[in-house]
Amino acid sequence: MSNEHVVEMRGISKTFGTVQALNDVDLELRRGELLGLVGDNAAGKSTLMKTLFGSVIPDAGEIFIEGEKAELRNPRDAQALGLAMIYQDLAVFNNLDVAANVFTGREYTRRILGITFLNRKRMEEESQALLDRLRINISSSKLLVERMSGGQRQMVAVARAIGFDARILIMDEPTAALGVKEANTLLDLMAGLRDQGISIILITHRISDVLAIGDRVMVLKGGERQGVLDVEDSTLEDIESLIVRGAAYLQ
Ligand SMILES: Nc1ncnc2c1ncn2[C@@H]1O[C@H](COP(=O)(O)OP(=O)(O)O)[C@@H](O)[C@H]1O
Ligand SMILES: [Mg+2]
Repeated sequence: MSNEHVVEMRGISKTFGTVQALNDVDLELRRGELLGLVGDNAAGKSTLMKTLFGSVIPDAGEIFIEGEKAELRNPRDAQALGLAMIYQDLAVFNNLDVAANVFTGREYTRRILGITFLNRKRMEEESQALLDRLRINISSSKLLVERMSGGQRQMVAVARAIGFDARILIMDEPTAALGVKEANTLLDLMAGLRDQGISIILITHRISDVLAIGDRVMVLKGGERQGVLDVEDSTLEDIESLIVRGAAYLQ
C-alpha cells in the first residue's frame, strides 16, 4: 500500500442473484486527483462505488483508506473515514434553507432556561464559512433551497455531503440531471475541490467532462476493470474504444 493512494480497492467481487456485477476489481485513487470512472450501462460503476461507501457489502475483496484496511459495514463507517458520496438525485431538503441543509443531522443546539434551541446563528455563520471555503457562490446561507436553480441545489448537496471533514468525494453521475451551464459550474467546483486536496471519483457518461477536469480515467466493462488511462495522454476516441472493446484495445 503506497502512501500516494488515499483509496485502494483489491479484488472486489459482487453478485446479485445470477448477475455478476463486479468481478475481481482493483481501484487506486491517488491523493488529490480526480479519477473518472466510466463504462456502459450496467458495467458495475455504481456498485463499485457503493462498496466503497459501505452501502453494498462485497462478496470478496479488501478496501484500504489512507493505508488502513477499512471495515465498511454502512455509510456511517465510510463517513467516519472521511468519505462522502453524492448521487444524481440531489440529496437536499427543498423546504429548508442552506444552513439547515448543511447541518441536517448535526445541528448545533443551546440550552436557555433548560429548554433546547437550535443555534441558528452559529449554523448560518459556519455554513457561510463552508460555502466560502469551497468557493461556492451562494449569496446567503439563509436562502431557501426551493428558490434555487438546479445547479445551486447541487452545490448545496456538495457542501452538505463534504461537510467539514470529507477528504474523499464520490460523485455518481452528478451532472446527469443538469443543464449545460449548471453542469459546467459543477465541474468547476469539482476541479476547485480537487485543487484544495480533496480526492474525487467521478462516475459520468460524459467523457468530455473527464477530459476537461480529470487526471486519470478508469474503465469498467461487464463488471471488470479494463484499464486506467492518463487523461493528458488520451483522446475521446481512446476512452470510448476502451469502453466498447475493453482491454483488448490496449494490446
Ligand atoms: N441491488 C441490486 N440488485 C440486483 N441487481 C443489481 C443491483 N444493483 C446493481 N445490480 C445489477 O448489477 C449490474 C451493475 O449495475 P450498476 O453497478 O448499477 O452499473 P452502472 O452503474 O455501471 O450502470 C447491473 O446488471 C445491475 O442490474
Ligand atoms: Mg450507475
